[in-house]
Amino acid sequence: MDPTARPRRLRSDGVRSLVGETDLRASDLVAPVFVDATADERVPIESMPGHERVPVSKSVARVREVLETGVEAVIVFGIPEEKDAEGSRAWAEEGVVQRAVRRITDRTDAYVITDVCLCEYTEHGHCGILEDGAREDARLTVDNDETLELLQRIAVSHAEAGADMVAPSSMTDGMVGAIREALDAAGYENLPIMSYAAKYESAFYGPFRDAADGAPAFSDRRHYQMDPGNRREAIREVRLDVEEGADVLMVKPALPYLDVVSDVRREFDHPVAAYNVSGEYAMLHAAADRGWLSLEAVARESLLSIKRAGADLIVTYFAEDVAREL
Ligand code: PBG
Repeated sequence: MDPTARPRRLRSDGVRSLVGETDLRASDLVAPVFVDATADERVPIESMPGHERVPVSKSVARVREVLETGVEAVIVFGIPEEKDAEGSRAWAEEGVVQRAVRRITDRTDAYVITDVCLCEYTEHGHCGILEDGAREDARLTVDNDETLELLQRIAVSHAEAGADMVAPSSMTDGMVGAIREALDAAGYENLPIMSYAAKYESAFYGPFRDAADGAPAFSDRRHYQMDPGNRREAIREVRLDVEEGADVLMVKPALPYLDVVSDVRREFDHPVAAYNVSGEYAMLHAAADRGWLSLEAVARESLLSIKRAGADLIVTYFAEDVAREL
C-alpha cells in the first residue's frame, strides 16, 4: 500500500522553486496604454477598472507609472480627434499615437509598441476601408487589398514617430508582408513586427471596444477575424505571417485559446506572444468585486497559465498589478 513515487516530496517550501517549471517576470509583460485626443484629463475606463484614457499631455506620466512597477514595455492605442471613412487620422503626422509616441520615446526608456489598425479611426468601426455596398449587404465588409496600403502608411508613420515595434491587428491578408516592405523602403529594416497572427472573432473584446471606441457600427468582424472553433487554421494563419517576415507571433485572446498558444509554441521557433484581452480582465474584476474570487491570485494564476502554455510575452491589463507583486 506504500507508494514509492510521491510527487509531493518536491512540493515542500525549500524545493518548490528549484523544480518550478514556469516563472513570471515583469520583463515578460506589456502594458496597454490608451491615449485620447478628445480628452483634457485622465478618464477612467469603467469596464476596465484601474485603466484610463489619457490625453497626449499625460501620456509620459502614464508610461512612467508603468515603468515604476518594473514593466518595461507598453503598447499604445489611440482615440483620434475625429473619424472618417478611411481612418485617415491613423497615419497623420500629428495623429494622437504619433504625438504620444514622440513624447514617450523622447522622455522615457519604455519600449514602445504601437497597434496598427483602423477600427478606432474609421467612422464605421471596421478594421479597414469598406467594400462598395458593405452597409447594405451582409456578405461584404472590408476591402482587403485596398486596406494594405493604409496599413503601410500607419506603420511608417509610427516608425517615424519613434515606435520600437509595430503590431498589426487588423487580420488583413498580406498585412505583415506589406508592412515589412514599406518599413524597409523607408529605412526601418531593423524595426520588428509583432503580428496579431491568430486573432479570433471574440466576444471577449467588449470592454476594449468601449475603451477605444472601436466597435463596428454595423455587422461584425467575422469575415476577417478567425472563427473561434478553428484550431488548425491558426497554424496556417501564423505560417503565412512567418513567411511574410513577422518577428513575434501573437495569439489573441489568451485564456480561452491556450490550445492555440501551445500549438504555435510547438510549431514555430519565433517568440510567441499572447494577448490577455479586456474581457478576460473585466470578468475577473467583476467576480472579485462580488467577493467571489481573490483578484491578485487569479490574475497571477492566469498569467502563469498563459506562460505555461508557451507564451514568451503577455500583453495584459494586469501587467502593473502583477509586476508590483513580483
Ligand atoms: C484592434 C484591436 C482590438 C483589440 C486590440 N486591438 C479590438 C478588436 O479587434 O475588436 C482588443 C483588445 C482587448 O480586448 O483587450 N485595433
